[in-house]
Amino acid sequence: MYKLDRLLITDLTVEHLDTPLGLDIACPRFSWKLRCQRENTVQSSYRLLITAGEEIAADTGRMEDSQSIEVSVPDFIARPMTCYQVRLEVTDNYGRTAQAHSRFETGRMGVPFRSSWVEPEQEPTPSSMGSAREGAEAADIACRDENGERTFAEFRPAQYVRIPFRIDRAIRRARVYATAHGLYRLSVNGRRPDDRELAPENTACHKLLQYQTYDVTALLRDGGNVLGVILADGWWAGRVGTTGDCCQYGDTTALLLDMDIEYMDGTRETVTGEQGVSSTGPIIFSDLFVGEKYDATRERPGWDCPGFDDSGWRPVVMKLYDKSHLVGQFALPVRPIRIFRPEAIFTAPNGDVILDAGQNFAGATEFTVTAPAGVCIKLEHFEVLDRDGNYFNSILNTNKEQTEIYITRAGRQTYRPAFTYHGFRYVRITGWPGMPAVEDFRMIVLASDMEDVGTFHTSDPRLNQLQSNIWWSQVSNTVSIPTDCPQREKAGWTGDIMAYAPTLCFNRAAGPFLTGWMNNVRAEQLESGAVPMIVPYLKAYATFLRDQLGADTSCGWGDAVIMVPYAVYRAYGDRRILEENYDAMLRWMDYIDSRAKNCHPEGYDTWDEARRARSRWLWNTDYHFGDWLIPSMVLGNPDGNAMGSTALATMHIVAPAYYAFSARNMAEIAGILGHAEDAARFAEIYRNIRRAFIAEYVHEDGTMDADFQGIYVIALQMGLATDEQRPKMAARLAQMIERNNNCLDTGFLSVLFLMDVLCDNGMTDLAYKLLFQTVCPSWLYEVEKGATTMWESWGAVDEDGVVSTYSYNHYAFGCVGDWMYRHIGGLQMVEPGYKKFRVAPALDCGLTYARTSRETPCGRASVEWELVDGKAYVRVEVPVNTTAEICLPGMACRTVGSGRYSFAVGRG
Ligand code: BGC
Repeated sequence: MYKLDRLLITDLTVEHLDTPLGLDIACPRFSWKLRCQRENTVQSSYRLLITAGEEIAADTGRMEDSQSIEVSVPDFIARPMTCYQVRLEVTDNYGRTAQAHSRFETGRMGVPFRSSWVEPEQEPTPSSMGSAREGAEAADIACRDENGERTFAEFRPAQYVRIPFRIDRAIRRARVYATAHGLYRLSVNGRRPDDRELAPENTACHKLLQYQTYDVTALLRDGGNVLGVILADGWWAGRVGTTGDCCQYGDTTALLLDMDIEYMDGTRETVTGEQGVSSTGPIIFSDLFVGEKYDATRERPGWDCPGFDDSGWRPVVMKLYDKSHLVGQFALPVRPIRIFRPEAIFTAPNGDVILDAGQNFAGATEFTVTAPAGVCIKLEHFEVLDRDGNYFNSILNTNKEQTEIYITRAGRQTYRPAFTYHGFRYVRITGWPGMPAVEDFRMIVLASDMEDVGTFHTSDPRLNQLQSNIWWSQVSNTVSIPTDCPQREKAGWTGDIMAYAPTLCFNRAAGPFLTGWMNNVRAEQLESGAVPMIVPYLKAYATFLRDQLGADTSCGWGDAVIMVPYAVYRAYGDRRILEENYDAMLRWMDYIDSRAKNCHPEGYDTWDEARRARSRWLWNTDYHFGDWLIPSMVLGNPDGNAMGSTALATMHIVAPAYYAFSARNMAEIAGILGHAEDAARFAEIYRNIRRAFIAEYVHEDGTMDADFQGIYVIALQMGLATDEQRPKMAARLAQMIERNNNCLDTGFLSVLFLMDVLCDNGMTDLAYKLLFQTVCPSWLYEVEKGATTMWESWGAVDEDGVVSTYSYNHYAFGCVGDWMYRHIGGLQMVEPGYKKFRVAPALDCGLTYARTSRETPCGRASVEWELVDGKAYVRVEVPVNTTAEICLPGMACRTVGSGRYSFAVGRG
C-alpha cells in the first residue's frame, strides 16, 4: 500500500483553541499534532517563533524535545490586546521537517474598560429572594388570569440599546469588548458578528464575570454606524434553579462595552456604551427557564442600523458597578452546534398538536409562519408523552414553563428565541394558523462548542444507541457549565460532573470548558475550604440547601475539585489544570480533615479509646447525598423523601470512603506536580483512613452493615478491605447482583466504578450481564423504552409505560460510556494525554465487532476488532509521537510506535 511519507502538522492550537481571540492568558501554551504514515515516527525537535507584526516576541530556537502537548514558551509574556503570529517548525526522527502557522490575539488582561457600566432606564425585576421559594410561588399565583392561565405580568421587557457613531477614515481593525449584567446580544449595523448565544454565559458573576471579544472590522462602514445590544435577565436577574427564584445577582440589567478602533493612519479611538440610547422592543420578556414572549408587531426594523429615528429613545444611565472581576471568556462559546428538522407533527389523542423532534436535547425551536398580524402562537416544550401519548409535564416546581409565546406581524416571518433554552423532545403547539408541518420548524441544538473526539460503534445497535444517548445528555448538559439537567435546574451540581468527567473528556474535547468551570469552582470555594454542591453557587440554592439540609457541600460533590482536574489531566495531558487548582484541592482536603478531626457523631462520648482514635480519620458527620438515588429505594417511589432516604442510609459510610479516595488521588497529584512531602502526607492519610474504615465498617467476612451494592463497589474501588476481605467482599457484591436479577443497584457515587470493580475482581462476566441487561434498572432498559438521552432515574418510564416527574436528560448514569470505550473498545490511556496507551479490547464480551477511536492530543488512535470464524481480527492505529502497548489473547504484550497494525488472534 502507498504510504504518505510526508510529515504534516495539523491542529496547531493556542490553549487548545484554534486562533483564539481575546485570550486573557499571559503565558499561553501551544499544542500540535503530527501526521505521517511512516511507522514509528517521533518528533525529535521543534521551534516556535512568535511575532507581533515585525517584532519577534519569542523564539524558542531548536528544542530537542518530543513534547507537542501544551508547550510553553519560556520568557514569553503576552501583552494585552495584541495580535501574535505563531510559526512552528518540527523535525522528526527520520530527519523530515514540517511547518505550520497560526495566530492568536490577547484580551484586555486587566486593561480597564474606558466605558462605565451603563443601564437602560427600566423597572427592576420584583425580587422574590428573602422569602425565597414562597416568594416565587406567591408571584406565580398572583399573576394568573380568570382561567388560571399565567399572565407573566410580573416579567419585564428586554432592553434595546443603540450606540451610534461615525467612521471617517480607513480602519485597520476594530474590536468590541463587551459584557453584561444579564444576557446580551450584539449586532453591528444590523448584523451579528458571530453566532454565539447566551453571552456572557453562566459564571459566578459577582466574582468572575466574562467579557467577550468580537472582531467587527468587516462590519463597519464609512459614515454612520450603529452597535445594537439587546439585554435580558439571564442568570443575573431571571428565575433560575430548582426553586425558580429570581435576582440572584441583581434586579436590573446593565451593559459594559468598549469598541476599540485602530485606523490605518495609526490613530485609535474608543466608542463606549455611554454613547447609547435605549428603549424596549418586541421581546416582552425572556427568561432562561420560563421562556420568551415576543410580539412581532412591536418590531422596529432598522433599530440597530444608521438612519433610524431614535428620537423617542432615552440616554442610558452611567453606573459605578464593579469592574474588578472581569475576565476574558476562556472556552469556546455556546452556539448552535446542530440544526435539524423535527421527525413528526401529530395530533395527540386528546387533540393537542405536538411536534416530535425525534431526539431529546437542549436548545430552541425556530419556525417560519405566514399569518396575519396579531395571531398568538404558543410553543410549550416538554420531554415525554404520557402513556396515552399526550402532553406530560415532568418538570417539578415553579417558573419552569419552557414556553414561547409569539404574536405575529403580517406576512411570512421566522422566529427563534434569543435568551432562553429548553430541555425537550416535544413541543405542544397552540394557536398556529392551520396545521403546522415539519418543514416549518428547525430544532436548534445549543451547547458550548467543542470538538467531538470519541467514536464508538459495535455490532449491537442497542449499545450504539446507549452511547448516542450519553452523547446527547452530555451535549445537553454542557451549555456554558456542566449541569445536572437542561430543564428543571440547569445547575452546576458538582457531584454529577465528578462522576461523569472521564466520559465527558472521551466524547468531546472538553479541556477548555472544564478549565473555565474550574475557575468558578475556585471562586466559589467557601472560606472554610468547602466546595459547594453547586457551582456557580446561586443564592437561591445556598438559601434552600442551608435551610433544608444545613449543608453547603457533600462528599462526592465537593470532591469534584480534585476529580475534574484529574480527569482533564489524564485525558489531555494538561498539567496546568492540576497546578491551577492544587491550592483549592489542598483547602478542600483541609476542610475534610478538620471535619473528621473536630466533629463527632452521636454516641461518640460512649465510645472506647480505640474507636475514638480511629474516628479522627473518618468523615462520619455532616449531611451528604451519599450513594444518591439507589434504584431499589427510589423506583416506584419518585418523591423527594425516597431520594432523601438513599442519602440517610449511606452518607456516613460513603463520606469516609470518598475521603480515602480523594486522599489517594491527592497523593498521586502531588507526586505528578513534584510536591513530594504532600504526596507522602496524603499517602499516609489514605493509609490511616483505610485502617480506620476497615476497623469501623468492614466485618471479618467482608460484609458491611450498609449492605448495599454501591457500598461494596466503593469500598473495593478505594481499596478499603484487607487482602483477606477483598475476595469475600467481591463475592458478596456478586451475590447481591445475582439475587437482584442480575441488575445493578448502585447510586450516583458508586455506579461510575461498578464495571471496573467487577472486571478488576474477576467478575467480568457479571459486568457483561449488567451491560446487556434489559430489565429495569439497567442501561439497555432505558434504550428499549425508547430513550434518546440518559434519565435521572432508571425507572422514569416504568414497565407499563407510566412516566414520572424525573428529568429525562441527566448525564450522571452515562458514566458507563468511559468504561465502554476503555473495556469494550479497548482503548486505554496509560500516560496522560494518551502519549502512551494500551490496546486490550474485550473480544469475549459477546459482540461480534467494535470500533472505537479517539482524537488524542497527538492525533487519532483507534481500535477496531471483529470476530470471524473463531478468530479475532484487530486493527490498531497509533498516532505519531505516541506508543501503544498491544495486549491481545494468545500474544505477549508488545509495544509499538506510530502506524497502523493488524493482528489475527484467537478469541481469548
Ligand atoms: C440534581 C442532581 C444533583 C442532586 C443532588 C438534584 O436535584 O438534579 O443531579 O446532583 O440534586 O443530590
